[in-house]
Parts: sequence; structure tokens; C-alpha cells
Amino acid sequence: MSQQQDIVLSGIRSTGSLHLGNYFGAMRNFVRLQETHTCYFFIADYHSLTTHPAPEDLHNNVRRILAEYIASGIDPEKCTLYVQSDVPETCDLYLLLNMIAYVGELERTTTFKDKIRKQPGNINAGLLTYPVLMASDILIHRAHKVPVGKDQEQHLELARVYARRFNNTYNCEIFPEPEAFNFGANLVKVPGLDGTGKMGKSEGNGIYLTDAPEVIRKKVMKAVTDTGPTEPNQELAEPIQNLFTILDLVSKPETAAFFRDQYARCSIRYGDLKKQLAEDLIAYLAPIREKFEQIINDKEYLGKVAAAGREKARASAAKTIAEVRRAIGINRL
Ligand code: TRP
Repeated sequence: MSQQQDIVLSGIRSTGSLHLGNYFGAMRNFVRLQETHTCYFFIADYHSLTTHPAPEDLHNNVRRILAEYIASGIDPEKCTLYVQSDVPETCDLYLLLNMIAYVGELERTTTFKDKIRKQPGNINAGLLTYPVLMASDILIHRAHKVPVGKDQEQHLELARVYARRFNNTYNCEIFPEPEAFNFGANLVKVPGLDGTGKMGKSEGNGIYLTDAPEVIRKKVMKAVTDTGPTEPNQELAEPIQNLFTILDLVSKPETAAFFRDQYARCSIRYGDLKKQLAEDLIAYLAPIREKFEQIINDKEYLGKVAAAGREKARASAAKTIAEVRRAIGINRL
């Protein structure tokens, strides 16, 4: 199958703003993929309802993520960019897939078990069937490739199980089995500024794509370091390696090489490294932030983008649902 025919799909939950980790781990690759593949990108607002956000917050988050997607280079002309709740066919499929999804396999999902531990007071059925909704997102457009992080691989495995099970149960070949899209060397894990681990929405250790320059400077200056190298050519401790990882992403190669050399000679001044890193981050993110500010309050433009995305997504989804209903035997009397 040619790349153009290969359907790529990915969604992002509408919680919080996008950070550097989202950008280098996902967005930047989406921007490349839209040039070569048929892509569907959407904002998973239904998925964010498991924690009952306030209506105002939900609405603002969806608008914000849409603007951030566009500001990061996702081009609504080159792909189908839409909001999950705008495509009711996804819910039709969700209901139908729930009939072939076993409670046992859902209960065994790692993310579900995590939620039981973390929020014992709110184990709603939506959490249990979260993977069924995600499978519906994917299968409604009969996607082949799904770029997702490691934490979503088990969900993707279930989407494959449901595709296969549906095809077998109804003796059809409606659904391809979606695979994880592997970015290979382009998959960059962005570390947080707190010394260990990756940048995450909930960890509070991130640089956001739309952070103002002063905010970026403050965050970078506060980043965890150590007391400095004591021997020449010493191995970099994790917090320092993390700063270099970010430097490699946003600075000129000479800049990173300069500071690596200083580290090797034990003459590095972390303050200088941080100042440079902050300025390079600010410059790197400036075009994204400018574009974001230009569109975030343009309700007419964002409304138009969402409406066009809805139309394209529903056209594709309606075809799938028609075939699914026919296969199951749901026909008009
Ligand atoms: N569950 C994904 C996450 O938390 C978001 C998501 C929802 C998704 N539906 C999807 C990702 C379909 C890929 C495909 O990151």
C-alpha cells in the first residue's frame, strides 16, 4: 500500500496545554506525516470527561489545544483536524464495540488498574471502557498507523483485538488492524527540568509551547543541577544530561558542543548554560507562540477550522458505520 493511502490517526486528550515533550514526541512528527500520509488528528474531549472537568474549562481547553495544534504546524488543509465530540459516529461504533469487548480484558488494562489505585472514589464505567472509545476513534476511520507513546500501546493492542474480533464475528473485512507508528530515530523523549524522568503534564516540570519568555527564563534558571564536575571527562549526571538533551533539540550544534567541552574541562558554569538554554528555547518557540496568540481569540477562524474538520471526519466515519451496520444486520425496516 502506498504511503498516501496509509491512514494515520492520533488524538490528544484536551487536558492542559501542550509542552515541549508533546511537541518533540508527537506534534513535530505529525507535521511531517501530514505531507506524506492521509492523516486524521483530533482532540479527544470525550476521553477527558473521565475526571469531570468544569464545562468552562473543558470548552476552553478544546479551543486552546486546537489553536496549539495549528500553531505547531498542523495544517487543516493537509489533514483532517477535528474534535472527537463533533463526530457522533464514533459513539455509534463505541456502543457496538462494547458488545464484543470483554469486561475481563478491560479490567486487566494497566491504565485502569492505575486509576483504581489513584482515584478509588471515581472508578466510572467510562474509565473501564476508555480503550473501547479509543478503539472506536481509530477504527471509525479504519486507520493503519497510530503514533502513540509507550503508555498507550496496550490500548492499541485492544484496538487490534476488537478489529479482528469484529471481522471474525461478522465474517467481514471492514477493519484493518492498526499498528503503532514507529518514529525510529525521530522519537525524542524530552526530560523534565526537575532532574529525573520525562516532561509530563501532571509532573509540573514542563516548558509549555506558549510560555512567555520571562516564564521560560524562570523555569530554566530553577532547573535541578548538581555541584559540578570534579574530574575531567566525568560522566554527566542525569539532571545535567537532561539539560543537554534539551539544548540539543533547540540550540545550534556549536552551542551544545561548547558547553560539553566546558563540562569535560570542569570549567562549566551552569548559570551560563541555563541562560543560553533559556534564550534558545525562547527563540525556538517564538513562531509557535506568535501564531497561537494571533488565533486563540479568533473564534470565527477556529470555528471554521473545526467545522471543516467535522465535515471531513464525518464523511469518512459515516461510510464505516454504514458498512458496520450492514455487517451486523442493522437495516432499516
Ligand atoms: N488515550 C490517548 C492518550 O491519553 C488519547 C487518545 C484518544 C488517542 N483516542 C485516541 C490516541 C486514538 C491515539 C488514537 O494519550
